[in-house]
Amino acid sequence: MELDDALTALRRRLPGTPDALVVLGSGLGPLVAEVVDPVKVPFADVPGLPAAGVAGHGGAFVFGRVSGRPLLLQAGRFHLYEGHSPEVVSAPVRLAARLGVKSVLVTNAAGGIRRTVPPGSLVLVEDHLNLMFRSPLVGPVMEGEDRFPDMSAPYDPDLRASVAEEARRLKIPLHQGVYAGVLGPSYETPSEIRMLERMGAHVVGMSTVPEVLAARSGQLPVVALSLVTNWAAGLSPDPLNHQEVLEAGERASKTVRRLVRAVVPRLP
Ligand code: HPA
Repeated sequence: MELDDALTALRRRLPGTPDALVVLGSGLGPLVAEVVDPVKVPFADVPGLPAAGVAGHGGAFVFGRVSGRPLLLQAGRFHLYEGHSPEVVSAPVRLAARLGVKSVLVTNAAGGIRRTVPPGSLVLVEDHLNLMFRSPLVGPVMEGEDRFPDMSAPYDPDLRASVAEEARRLKIPLHQGVYAGVLGPSYETPSEIRMLERMGAHVVGMSTVPEVLAARSGQLPVVALSLVTNWAAGLSPDPLNHQEVLEAGERASKTVRRLVRAVVPRLP
């Protein structure tokens, strides 16, 4: 996807330069309501970006101040399972990089694979497994990006330490774990979940990995928080449904928002 026109359109609409990009996952949309002097740019107004489709995803960039800092919020995201290319999925990160953000904070909803991370848990992502088997980095190297980005510390250790510290200060229980990124859109089978557990994963979700790959290729530090919305398949007798994921996201979203507000001043 060609980013020049999108970048021009976005620059024309934004009244300033954001310090960081914050990607809002399922249920975290309400953070938008806390933005001071918000300027909303629907994805549909950005050339090359489709209007986002999944229920619970608003589909817009929102520029404004959170905890006193100018941020670009991405309310709603593109998923591979919607049929979007990895380029489209990671386009918001690449656009933010070209706008000059210095870091990326990603939130997502995920299934809990281990008994230690029941629904409602917050997990600071320490590493991931790319089980989507797709990458936005395939193809010509984009301006400002690396051909072979180092992934030995994909989630910035300093930023993770800051998030853990703020969580402790606010007495918000925070786990650390490995995020397994899968293609979806079906939820996993119990056997797949057992496989993921043996592979070292703690949580599983259908997003984040393409965005993180693009950010790391552009040398942007990344930090990611998974909100566990459900037991992964086989850990509970109940079947999984998307409505439940959204509701759990909304219930815990207040805590995540509190943590995000506390972390924002500590982003680079
Ligand atoms: N699996 C995959 N993606 C998810 C899940 C899950 O259990 N919950 C929320 N996103």
